[in-house]
Amino acid sequence: MGLSRRTVIRAIGGTGLALVGAGGLFAVTRTPERALAPWAAIEDTPPADIRLDAFRHAILAPNPHNRQPWLIKLVSADEALIFCDLERRLPETDPFDRQILIGFGCFLELARIAAAERGFKMDISAFPDGLPAERLDRRPIAKLRFVANPTTTADPLFRYIPVRRSSKQPFDTTRPVEDRTLASLVSLSSTTARIATTADAALVETLRTLTWDAWMIELTTARTWQETVDLMRIGRSEIEANPDGVSIGGPFLEAMALTGQFSREQSARPGTAAHNGSISRYRPIMATGMAYAWIMTEGNARTDQLAVGQTFVRMNLEAARKGLGFHPISQALQEFKEMEPAYRKITGALGAQPGQRVQMLARLGYGSLAARTPRWPLRSKIMGA
Ligand SMILES: Cc1cc2nc3c(=O)[nH]c(=O)nc-3n(C[C@H](O)[C@H](O)[C@H](O)COP(=O)(O)O)c2cc1C
Repeated sequence: MGLSRRTVIRAIGGTGLALVGAGGLFAVTRTPERALAPWAAIEDTPPADIRLDAFRHAILAPNPHNRQPWLIKLVSADEALIFCDLERRLPETDPFDRQILIGFGCFLELARIAAAERGFKMDISAFPDGLPAERLDRRPIAKLRFVANPTTTADPLFRYIPVRRSSKQPFDTTRPVEDRTLASLVSLSSTTARIATTADAALVETLRTLTWDAWMIELTTARTWQETVDLMRIGRSEIEANPDGVSIGGPFLEAMALTGQFSREQSARPGTAAHNGSISRYRPIMATGMAYAWIMTEGNARTDQLAVGQTFVRMNLEAARKGLGFHPISQALQEFKEMEPAYRKITGALGAQPGQRVQMLARLGYGSLAARTPRWPLRSKIMGA
């Protein structure tokens, strides 16, 4: 066993504020400014090309493990093709690329909202060269066309793009989520992607337990936890070099890393302080969901998954508008073998009927505003740029 947290804080002169993770706090002095620059970039003068304006917003979309798998090809004067960077998928926890595709739905919806703000309609043609099978492939996910259209109305959710977050933190258990706030989320359901919510005490308690159990299954299944560990970016220089994945920053953990107390290798190994720390950090997070929202579809077609992403990010924006913390928790919905019993239990608790697919689940509650997560700059996502 290594140094205790207290000892490490003393060793670095008591300056160790701290943590952590995609969505945690970066201490002021260790903020990875370059990795966060794409958030500030949307305040700059809009580029003349509407496509670039739409995409500088779209790259801020929520997406699994912040892999940012999008590749953009600008074609003709007003079109773009969107592809998946196949190296950026999550084969262990997302074996059918379902979650990755939901992230693309989020990306497309933010692009559409940003285009509408400038009076452009963004037509989406999904899978123009055909549908993928079990995994995504090299064919485009969408072809987009931007058409100037004076009747296009601005979307009130546009202004919440910079304040949307995935809130990976404990929520205030003295502050319930109001029914009318949940109703505003439900009202965003589409014909394909239906939203349901609960703040019922008994169901909330059940979901806290089931989501925690599922989180532990992912963590104790070596190959699925390794997928997360491999994506840890520890400290500012790693985050700046690879502004994606699971960012772990702040002086405390950087000091632990420097003194050999925290590493990817240790995080992967049960019994180490680093591995135990992942458990003890997440337990209060998962134990404080005050309400839950989920999205269900009647089938599980690729186009359904895209539609789920579009609805999901609107829900996330609406939560931001209401100042409500919103934390997607997908473990119990994942398709790897060890998760099957947990998926059955949670879908039973959520009232899914045979044939229906629970696509997304989020924990809701009030807490402090989570930090922004890193992004690759837009130019790195444009093919041939
Ligand atoms: C399909 C999907 C699944 C996600 N699943 C989880 C999850 O299980 N746990 C979690 O903490 N965040 C999850 N997230 C949130 C991402 O980690 C988050 O969007 C990403 O790190 C970027 O952070 P941001 O949303 O705060 O910008 C998910 C997001 C999407 C779109």
